[in-house]
Amino acid sequence: MSFNVAIDGPAGAGKSTIAKKIAKKMGYIYVDTGAMYRAMALFFIENGIKAEETDKINTKCKDADITITHENGEQIVLLNGKNVNGMIRTEEVGNMASASSVNREVREKLVELQQKLAKKTDVIMDGRDIGTVVLPQADVKIYLTASSAVRAKRRYDELTAKGERVDFDHIEQRIIERDHRDMTREISPLKQAEDAIRVDSSDMGIDEVVDTIIKLCQNKQSK
Ligand code: DC
Repeated sequence: MSFNVAIDGPAGAGKSTIAKKIAKKMGYIYVDTGAMYRAMALFFIENGIKAEETDKINTKCKDADITITHENGEQIVLLNGKNVNGMIRTEEVGNMASASSVNREVREKLVELQQKLAKKTDVIMDGRDIGTVVLPQADVKIYLTASSAVRAKRRYDELTAKGERVDFDHIEQRIIERDHRDMTREISPLKQAEDAIRVDSSDMGIDEVVDTIIKLCQNKQSK
């Protein structure tokens, strides 16, 4: 049986940074499910489909072949055979991913892929519905969160470090809107699984969060 760790939480809580570190230390494969929704969103954008065109989204998503490979521990997302890692980290794609991921066909297709990956190897998987829908039997479930102000500050620092000129209030507003959409959608909304452990990273350093989760995994594995 493979060992499965689920990390859910809102955008900017630090899920991917933390999951990557844990994967490295513990020898798990890191699966970033947000990247799959982003690849799908990129496909819609490239095909001129708008977020509100639900019928088109539900039909067209069948033509998007999304697969995952790993190279030197890094996840590579292939969209119809092409590596799209360098194209999915924009605000435009993130917002389209949040909007298009409310659709049933999109979710069913990607959830199936995620479940297959977790069945064959030890994984640490992050997203919004991992502990609740994708891997309800996960060995360790974490709900990682932080205040919207702290998350906006992290995003602001990240963008200004890249030389982008951005407005802090605008970023926080977009984060609040994205949380609202992810938490109130009808299918698989973001919520803490009943058996998940809540970790609030607002006042914690990255290593502190990593160590906390690793201890939980080790406890579980020694049982
Ligand atoms: O984690 P992220 O910012 O890369 O995710 C982008 C969007 O994809 C997020 O706003 C909602 C959606 N998503 C989802 O619905 N379910 C997941 N398991 C992961 C992401």
